[in-house]
Amino acid sequence: MKTLTHTCHYTLCSYDELSEQDCHLIDAAKQAIKQSYAPYSHFHVGAATLLDDDTIVIGSNQENAAYPSGMCAERTALFYAGSAHPNRAVVALAIAAYTEGEFTATPISPCGACRQVILEMEQRHNHPIRILLYGTEGIIVVEGGIKELLPLTFSASFLK
Ligand code: THU
Repeated sequence: MKTLTHTCHYTLCSYDELSEQDCHLIDAAKQAIKQSYAPYSHFHVGAATLLDDDTIVIGSNQENAAYPSGMCAERTALFYAGSAHPNRAVVALAIAAYTEGEFTATPISPCGACRQVILEMEQRHNHPIRILLYGTEGIIVVEGGIKELLPLTFSASFLK
């Protein structure tokens, strides 16, 4: 028997320490929050994907009275990117959240279902997706992509 450990590598930084392009992507995620539809949770989330031609595609959470029919911001953005720009790799994804009149102090992190969809998008284009999680008290940058956040993945390789 042996015990293995999964380690998550990420960087904590401030907005000022980011590149202009990263700041721009975070700004887009924050802007996307304005299009969130969250009348039930009042938890508004915005996501912005950066494509390999520098296009930014945004998404926001879209809730539903039948709660499970709603959709997270990350998947809204990724599915939109995948359908409108099917031949473009997603190279980065920024996420921000707003509730009770302010952006969250702590960055929020994608849910399990969104992590699975991020993995699929990485594999679709064979390109890791840098993940930027915005909080007013600090920003988390996951340079290595979804492998840092989703160990022991289920992917297409099992279906062969
Ligand atoms: N939500 C997202 O859009 N992204 C996340 O990473 C976490 C949660 C949404 C789903 C739901 O509309 C609301 O936030 C509360 O869970």
